[in-house]
Amino acid sequence: MTINRGIGGIAGQIAAELRHAVRTGRLTPGTRLPATRDLAADLRVSRGVVVEAYEQLVAEGFLVSRVGSGTHVAPAAAPRAEPPPGDREHAPYYGHRPTSPDLGLFPRERWLAALRHVLATAPGDALDYGDPGGVPELREELAGYLSRVRAADVRPDHVVVTGGVAQGLSLVLRVLAEPGRLRLAVEDPGSDRQLPLLRRAGADPVPVPVDEEGLDVAALAASRADAVLVTPAHQFPTGVVLSPARRAALMAWARDGDRIVLEDDYDAEFRFDREPVGCLQGLAPDRVVLSGSVSKSLAPGLRLGWVVAPARLAAAVRRARGELDLGSPVIEQYALAHFLRTGGYDKHLRRMRREYRVRRDALVEALARDLPEVRVRGIEAGLHVYLELPEGWDAERLVAAARELGLVAAPVSRTRGAGGPPAVVAGFARLPARRAAETVRGLNVLMSGHFRK
Ligand SMILES: Cc1ncc(COP(=O)(O)O)c(C=O)c1O
Repeated sequence: MTINRGIGGIAGQIAAELRHAVRTGRLTPGTRLPATRDLAADLRVSRGVVVEAYEQLVAEGFLVSRVGSGTHVAPAAAPRAEPPPGDREHAPYYGHRPTSPDLGLFPRERWLAALRHVLATAPGDALDYGDPGGVPELREELAGYLSRVRAADVRPDHVVVTGGVAQGLSLVLRVLAEPGRLRLAVEDPGSDRQLPLLRRAGADPVPVPVDEEGLDVAALAASRADAVLVTPAHQFPTGVVLSPARRAALMAWARDGDRIVLEDDYDAEFRFDREPVGCLQGLAPDRVVLSGSVSKSLAPGLRLGWVVAPARLAAAVRRARGELDLGSPVIEQYALAHFLRTGGYDKHLRRMRREYRVRRDALVEALARDLPEVRVRGIEAGLHVYLELPEGWDAERLVAAARELGLVAAPVSRTRGAGGPPAVVAGFARLPARRAAETVRGLNVLMSGHFRK
C-alpha cells in the first residue's frame, strides 16, 4: 500500500496521531471512533478538518467508514507496524536524540581544511600508532581550551583523548573499579542510556535524587557510594545547574571520604543567558575527573572526547586505553588540534550558540503560548528543554506526537525514586525557529480532548 501523506495542517496532525495510535495498538481493530462533530467540538476545530483526517485514514486503510455505523479502526487490514522505507523518506527528519546538535550545520569546509592541512603537512611517522593517551598536539590544545573556557585546572599530561564521554567514563570506571566493583552514585532522574555502559565498566549504579538545586548531597552521603557521576553545568535531563552550596558540599563529600567525582560536561559549551559556570574540576583537580567531547559542538559521529584526571589516574587510564585498543585515530586528533589552534572551533561555537539561542527562544515562546499547562525548565543551557507535564498526561503519547511533528523528544523515566510529575525532554537544536510555532500548535491539538489521556 502506498501511503499518501497529501494532507497537511491540523487535519494532517490529527491523522498522524490516529495513525500512530493504530500502529502501536492503542486503538485496536474494530474500535469505534468519535463522531466527526463530537471530535471537532472537543478539539475546537471545524468539522471539515476532522472529516478530512478520517477520509485520509480510510484511504490509507487504517479506518473503515460505513454510512449508518460510523467510523471504525480497520479489522484485519490493519497496516504493517512500521511505515515502508520509502514513506520514511518523506517524514521530517530531525535526528533521534533530544541532545543531538544540528548536523546540517557541521562546519564541513573548515573541517575539510583542517584535514587537508594535516594530510599535507604531517610527516609519515605521525601516522603510526599514536600515544594511547592522545597525540601531544591535541592534549596541549585541549589543556589550553579547557583552562580558558571551562576554568579547568589542567596540564597536557592530565588529558587522555577518548572516543567521547562514553568511552572516557568507561575507561575511568574500569580503572577505579579494579579489581572488584565500584558503588557509583548516579543522578535520579539521569541518563538511563548510560546505565548499561556503567555496569559493564564495573560500576553498580545507586540512584540519588536531584532537586531544584541539583544533586541532593545529603542523600549522596547516605548512599555509601565510593564515587559519583554528575552533570553539574546542566543536569541531564532536568537542566538544573548545581547550586554553589551544593558544589561546596559535593567537594567536601569527596575530600572527607577520599572519593572521586566524575563530571560529565556534555553540553557546557552552550550557555545562553549567563556566563558559563566553571567546571567542578577547577575547584578540586585532585578529586574530580572531567569528561567532555565534541559530540554537541561538532558531531557525535566523530567520536572524539577527553578525560582530565589527577596525574596518577590519568596515567592509569592511558595505560588501560593502550591495553584495550591502542588509542584513537590520529588524523582526526591532529585535525581537531589544528581546528582549536587556528580559532576555527571558537568561531564555530560562537555561531552555533547564536543559532541555538534563536531556536530555543522560539520553542520556549511557542510552548508558553500554546501549551501553557506544561512547565518548561532547564532552558539556560544545552540543546534540550525539560517539560513537566500536568498530572494525568501521558509522556509516551506526547513523545510520539512530538516526533510525528519533527520535534525529537524522549520520556523521562518514571521509575525514578525522586517521584515528580510526568516529564519529557525535547531537543530544540534540530527544530528551525520558523517551525516552532506550528509544531507546538500541532502538539496542542494532538494532546487535547480525546488525546490527552
Ligand atoms: C548525559 C550525556 N552525557 C554524555 C553524552 C555524550 O556522549 P559522547 O561524548 O560519548 O557522545 C550525552 C549525549 O547524548 C549525554 O546525553
